[in-house]
Amino acid sequence: MYLKVFYSLLLMLSFYGIPSTGQKKKETLLSEKVGQLMDWTGKRAVIRMNGEKFRRFVKAPPRNYSVVIMFTALQPQRQCGVCKQADEEYQILANSWRYSSAFTNKVFFAAVDFDEGSDVFQMLNMNSAPSFIHFPAKGKPKKSDSYELQVRGFAAEQLARWVGDRTDVQIRVIRPPNYAGPLMLGFLLAVIGGLAYLRRNNLEFLYNKNVWAFSALCFCLIMTSGQMWNHIRGPPYAHKNPTTGQVVRPSLSIDIS
Ligand SMILES: *[C@@H]1O[C@H](CO)[C@@H](O)[C@H](O)[C@H]1NC(C)=O
Repeated sequence: MYLKVFYSLLLMLSFYGIPSTGQKKKETLLSEKVGQLMDWTGKRAVIRMNGEKFRRFVKAPPRNYSVVIMFTALQPQRQCGVCKQADEEYQILANSWRYSSAFTNKVFFAAVDFDEGSDVFQMLNMNSAPSFIHFPAKGKPKKSDSYELQVRGFAAEQLARWVGDRTDVQIRVIRPPNYAGPLMLGFLLAVIGGLAYLRRNNLEFLYNKNVWAFSALCFCLIMTSGQMWNHIRGPPYAHKNPTTGQVVRPSLSIDIS
């Protein structure tokens, strides 16, 4: 009699026990994965993934985190200039997130290079770089999880807006300050001030036409140079073909296959 009860208890336990250990396993696997990703993110804002890491951390369940991946081709022999520019913007985005006070383990940023994970490119049927795809915490990427690079460009702010749409994680992009401009201006002012100070007893040169003509010429040359224009407006993104009048947009990605 007791034996019967014991056995039925044992049977019940085994029935209910198995799913619960399965659940436990899943839970430990998940926290292992999250721990590993956090560890990598601590070292560099963008995690580099090869095929094996991609399958383990992005493709395979369990997962309770989003992964944003840049597919790129940064090896010099691929000659992908835009990949480098996009990578710089992506690093700015990922670093803004990593050092943000709102940082959580909900979103991770990663990159797959064609020369380290061409199998991933094949698996996803991807043949251009750079491309950005968001892998949501649940389910497969939808159409809007692919970033429209040709339409939106790859500025970190645009990428941040897209990530915000896809994940509810708002990232404020913080760019490293660019000191070159203000520094040059300060230097110029100091030189002019210094000259005026040195010649304070003899300010005749202010009435010298040649000095003014030379300064004006320098000013014109600097302002009309493409460098200054790029500095103010950013490099040209689309330009008009002068013969046909058509607006030509340089492609923002290259084909790889
Ligand atoms: C995902 O699960 C792991 C393990 O349970 C947990 O440590 C982590 O906080 C979870 N992440 C989110 C965003 O809920």
